[in-house]
Amino acid sequence: MKTKSIYTCKSCGYQSPRWLGKCPDCGEWDTFYEELTEKPSERTVGTMQSQALKPQLISLNDVHMSQEIRFSSGMAELDRVLGGGIVAGSLVLVGGEPGIGKSTLLLQICAHISNKVLYVSGEESPSQIKLRAKRLHIENEAISLLCTTDLNEIVAALESARPSLVIVDSVQTVSNPQMNSAPGTVSQIKEITMTLMRIAKSTGITVFIVGHVTKEGAIAGPRVLEHMVDCVLYFEGDNNHIFRLLRAIKNRFGSTNEVGVFEMEETGLTEVANPSAALFEHKDTTASGSCITCTMEGSRPFLTEIQALVTPTFFPVPRRTASGIDYNRMVLLMAVLEKRIKLSLSNYDAYINIVGGMRITEPAADLSIAMAIYSNYKDIVLPSNHAFLGEIGLSGEIRPVSLINTRIKEAKKLGIDHIVIPYANLNKCNDISGVIGVKNIGEAIRTISN
Ligand code: TYD
Ligand code: MG
Repeated sequence: MKTKSIYTCKSCGYQSPRWLGKCPDCGEWDTFYEELTEKPSERTVGTMQSQALKPQLISLNDVHMSQEIRFSSGMAELDRVLGGGIVAGSLVLVGGEPGIGKSTLLLQICAHISNKVLYVSGEESPSQIKLRAKRLHIENEAISLLCTTDLNEIVAALESARPSLVIVDSVQTVSNPQMNSAPGTVSQIKEITMTLMRIAKSTGITVFIVGHVTKEGAIAGPRVLEHMVDCVLYFEGDNNHIFRLLRAIKNRFGSTNEVGVFEMEETGLTEVANPSAALFEHKDTTASGSCITCTMEGSRPFLTEIQALVTPTFFPVPRRTASGIDYNRMVLLMAVLEKRIKLSLSNYDAYINIVGGMRITEPAADLSIAMAIYSNYKDIVLPSNHAFLGEIGLSGEIRPVSLINTRIKEAKKLGIDHIVIPYANLNKCNDISGVIGVKNIGEAIRTISN
């Protein structure tokens, strides 16, 4: 075996025989680091040696399917995201920004498991973990701690203790000392994940690993990690927002459309079973510029309030501020309002806010954004039993939206009985009581004036 230097990009895993300032694959600057690799001295593939192997082939029809064994994490929201509970022997990656609550969530899972659990931390000391456990009122005899950054120690602990669940917090801090590269590099992360995957599959131990995210929001130690694991969960939200959303980005045992909703409180994360009601609680029913819509997070409907403030400006260039929606979408919708229904918005500053710190990326909320702007501009209060759904095209037409029945059902559950939807969606509605179909933005506005 000969050793050879190879340069690997930290961000995407691209490899080059020499150092590069900019990665030709992902375009990141200064991400290459040197690794020593061992090169096989001779080609073995296709030689007599491989021809001597006798791989066992199995007919697909003869494969017996064993039902996967699932157990509950004790949190219905997490079980829902995982597709109906934790699958025994699976490897789950939990990603998210620092301070979002990954360690808290995983420690809370430990509290609910009655079998042996091993919590491995490369970041915190036992007393720090104990402090968190005290805040969460966790006193579970079955939880053992291991504070190490050495992969070999983790493997040895798993072999001797044989827990049913192990948590590795975080994958970036653990390393295999036999390898030349530093912790957190692509080759270390691959090695750790592969080792844990092998253990999970051969022993049935369920593994949860925490992965930090880069400034751009991707799980650091690039996508290679996401390809290897069974599930990738992503925890998002920030301290100023009410909700923390747990999304499945990848799930080999269920749908990726599920979203779990949590709230961070003094004593840890609590589940929010009915987020629409929580968002709806503090709505001011007397102010203009507020409009209700129903957005989808995966397959889950959220009743959301859009707020707009439109005020005269004294500056030549009016201000536009969008919080929770795309700025360009806001400008586009204002241009449509200006052109199609002659709202002269060019002398007005405009601010849009989505209540509760939600982020809306789907165009189905277009009509409600336009209605909130219109409502504040004309100072007309939209009744709190009205909701608006629909995508707006450049000619002011209202285009159909997906999952219309789920959205209508959610709105009705919270007492909304006047739902304006795209006309093209009407024939797909199961229940059209209180539902009004509109073809363009002018028609939508007329539904509130009569
Ligand atoms: P943590 O779980 O350590 O986040 P991560 O592991 O993702 O970096 O902590 C999340 C934040 O939540 C931390 O700033 C403190 C706060 N927190 C609470 O508000 N209540 C609690 O009960 C706990 C344990 C933490
Ligand atoms: Mg942590």
